[in-house]
Amino acid sequence: MPQDNMKIIVVEDYNEMSRKAAEILIKKVQEKQNAVLGLATGSTPVGLYEELIKDHQTTGTSYKDIHTVNLDEYIGLPKEDKNSYYTFMCEHLFNHIGIPAEHTHIPNGETKDFLEECDRYENIIESLGQVDLQILGIGSNGHIGFNEPGSSFTGKTHIIDLKESTRQANARFFESIDEVPKQAITMGVGTIMKSKEILLLASGTAKAEAIHGTIHGEITEELPASILQTHPNVTLIVDKDAYSLCE
Ligand code: F6R
Repeated sequence: MPQDNMKIIVVEDYNEMSRKAAEILIKKVQEKQNAVLGLATGSTPVGLYEELIKDHQTTGTSYKDIHTVNLDEYIGLPKEDKNSYYTFMCEHLFNHIGIPAEHTHIPNGETKDFLEECDRYENIIESLGQVDLQILGIGSNGHIGFNEPGSSFTGKTHIIDLKESTRQANARFFESIDEVPKQAITMGVGTIMKSKEILLLASGTAKAEAIHGTIHGEITEELPASILQTHPNVTLIVDKDAYSLCE
């Protein structure tokens, strides 16, 4: 059984998921103008970010005092690479909402000293205080951030070897699978769980099994998202396809 604190909103499709998520995020930003937002990359939040840009342009919601921390970054891609999450965030959101660049944080995947970078990033998150609202997508293997199955529930920001299935899933953005990085820096599950509020989004049948496990499955490090059953303030916005195994 899902925990009572896990709020589940089932919507028709990707567009409705994006609109609902935008409503929640915009409300947070309007209520707390210096909120700290945790952000994700990948296909899932693209529609959400489009809604935020539209809203910023039409109603003027301000991001000038907002701070953001991203979940993860590939190791080995230059910042300017079209597939770096730095480029992704600039193109899909940051360049369009008037947020000061120095308020946005993404792990540095180009550093020479990865352990130092993990500490630096974890310290940034701590120095900002708690993340007010963390946006999550989910891998079809149940990963959150790039915490692949087997990742510790108490983990902080760390280096992770990407599973072959994750590299395959993300190969659609690259010329070939050989170009997909083999490692990433990711916030740990422990870091993610410290957020005050979590909003997990999922769309499509490829996510159905992971969503079923997240809501109804055993809480196990083999399905990292299952830990969300123990978070005090988590909302899932899932479309019918992603929810299809739960009915
Ligand atoms: C991205 C991230 C990942 C993705 C997940 C789903 O920052 O942390 O957990 O959310 O891999 O990716 P998409 O949305 O492309 O299906």
